Parts: sequence; structure tokens; C-alpha cells
Amino acid sequence: MKILITGCAGFIGYHLTKKLLQKKTFKIIGIDNLNDYYDTKLKYARLKELKKFKNFIFFKVSLEEKKKIQKIFSKFKINFVINLAAQAGVRYSQKNPDQYLNSNIVGFYNLLETMKKYNVKKLLFASSSSVYGKVKSKIFSENLITDKQISLYATSKKINEVFMNFYGNIYNISNIGMRFFTVYGPYGRPDMAYFKFTKLIQEKKKIYLNNFGNHSRDFTYIDDCVECIVKLIDLVNKKKMNTIVNIAGGRKISIKHMLKLIEKNLNIKAKISLKPLQFGDVKNTFSNPKKLKKMINYKPKTSLEFGIKKFCNWYIKFYKI
Ligand SMILES: NC(=O)c1ccc[n+]([C@@H]2O[C@H](COP(=O)([O-])OP(=O)(O)OC[C@H]3O[C@@H](n4cnc5c(N)ncnc54)[C@H](O)[C@@H]3O)[C@@H](O)[C@H]2O)c1
Repeated sequence: MKILITGCAGFIGYHLTKKLLQKKTFKIIGIDNLNDYYDTKLKYARLKELKKFKNFIFFKVSLEEKKKIQKIFSKFKINFVINLAAQAGVRYSQKNPDQYLNSNIVGFYNLLETMKKYNVKKLLFASSSSVYGKVKSKIFSENLITDKQISLYATSKKINEVFMNFYGNIYNISNIGMRFFTVYGPYGRPDMAYFKFTKLIQEKKKIYLNNFGNHSRDFTYIDDCVECIVKLIDLVNKKKMNTIVNIAGGRKISIKHMLKLIEKNLNIKAKISLKPLQFGDVKNTFSNPKKLKKMINYKPKTSLEFGIKKFCNWYIKFYKI
């Protein structure tokens, strides 16, 4: 099977691509524009790992470049698309709105139109827990009405879901939108709290804890996330789907607890300063795991203790500390 993975040099894209390449039954066509939203060294390092596989081919291209995307579809007989490329980040969307419009909305639209043109009928795409925004419920279930996003990033993901519902219905594209909940792990994203905290602790700099440290998150370890995606590929292949699902780790964890684990693994005490709630921040995220369990009979395996340990070990090795 030939799978096109967008954002393959990104955090989730890299881990998923590697997992599928190891299976050897897949040929992966990876695309990424390698933008400098965060340290590109990390993106090139991930790509270097992927290029070791013979069944991998890479193109540096943006989703906005419709003609180039079409050329890739015309060259390879792609059976399946996994869209992970996006401009991520909540606070960044306040200052750089254009990038969210271009990458996440125009880019996604280009991809869908190209799939339509080349008759590709299977898709998984990345959405986000941020879509839940200001919903009143403490547990986020997929059937809740999500009409109160609080950042342009979240809005762009909601628009993706709405687009997909239309393309799925009208053009018969079997698809699932994956609402990821705070995915973390080795080769992770430097703009995310666990990564920033590790760097700041290591450099003995002050950490500002937003919302006075009272945030909590449903952390998802990268291997668990990848396991879900692999199972969802199978599902979309076997059955006509047009739905959304939460992908989460299954435990509500306070940011303070996560910070303690990083301190323990680095054996350094953090310097902490408390700050009020920041723009776009959802205070707590906790997924209702029922739908995911029903769809793929999945139970998260990795504890935060183990996951943070793996991340810290990777961090120390990668940055040669
Ligand atoms: N990591 C998480 O916790 C999390 C949570 C919710 C949703 N998501 C979503 O999951 C997906 C993957 O996230 P990630 O953590 O791997 O992020 P990432 O930023 O590490 O990966 C995204 C990759 O896409 C590439 N890219 C961005 N815009 C592009 C464009 N227009 N054309 C081509 N390539 C482009 C980037 O260079 C990057 O390598 C994203 O859509 C993100 O919004 C992630």
C-alpha cells in the first residue's frame, strides 16, 4: 500500500512514518515544508532517520503548492493519505494568523481537492483537543457541540473537520479526524510545555507556570498515539468511515505533577514563577475514551512516569548534556 504522509518530519509524522516503514508492507511518500516554527535541526534529524529506509521517499513541499502536490499524486499511485502537516501552536496563532489560514485551511483544502481529482478515497487527518475550547463539560466526548474555540489554531482544526464532513459525504472519502490530546515523547515538539520545562530546568532558568500551575492535561505518549493511528488505518481501509475520534492517554494529569517528574529525572530543582491564565489556553483537557475503545479496542499502555523518563533520556542524549 502507498501512503502519503504530510508533515512526516514533524513529531507525530516522524514516529508514525518510522513505525509504518518498519512494517515493510508500506511504501511511504513523505512530504513536509520543513518550516522554522521550531528548531529545524530536529526536523532534519528525524528525516535523516527516515531516509535510512528504502521504502521511503521524501519531497520538500508545502500543502499550499497545489501544482506540486498534484504532481506527486500523478507520479505515485497513492492509496491512502494521512494529513499531519499543520501550523501548530495556540499562542503563535495570535501573532501569525496568516500561517494558520494558509497551512491549515488552504493547505488542507488543496489536499482534499487533489484526492478528489486523483480518486484517492482514504484519509486520516489531525485535528486537536483544542477544538473543545470552552465547552462546559469536564470530560470531552466527541458528541459534544464544539462551537466555542478560543484560538485561531483551534478554529482552523474545527474548519478541517467541517470540510472533511462535506468531502466525506459528497465525494465518498472514507476518513477519520483524530483529535489528539497533548502528545509527548522523544523527538518531541520544542514549543510544548514538557519540552520547554526540560530545557529551562536544564539551563537553570525560571519556569513560568500559567494559570498558577492549575492546568491539567490528558497526556498521550507518542507510542500509544502511533498505535492508535496504525489501527485506524486498518479501520478506514476496511470500512467506510466519516467521523471524529479523541486520541488520548486516559489519565488527567496536573502540569505540576508532570514538572515534578521532569525534576526527578534531571535531578535538578526547578525555579518556578506563577502566572495567570494565558491567551487561548484551555484549563483542563480530559478525553472520554469510550469511542476510541469501541472503534479499535484500544487501551493506553504508557504511564506518564515511564513516558517522561523516556523523553528526558532522549533529551539528554540528543542535546549531548
Ligand atoms: N503534538 C500534539 O500534542 C498535537 C495535539 C493536537 C493536534 N496535533 C496536530 O497533529 C499534527 C502533527 O503535530 P506535531 O506535534 O507532529 O507537529 P509538528 O509541528 O512537529 O509537525 C508538523 C509538520 O508539518 C510541517 N508543515 C507545517 N505546515 C506545513 C505545510 N503547509 N506544508 C507542508 N508541511 C507543513 C512542519 O514543518 C512540521 O514538520 C498537527 O496537525 C497538529 O496540529 C498535535
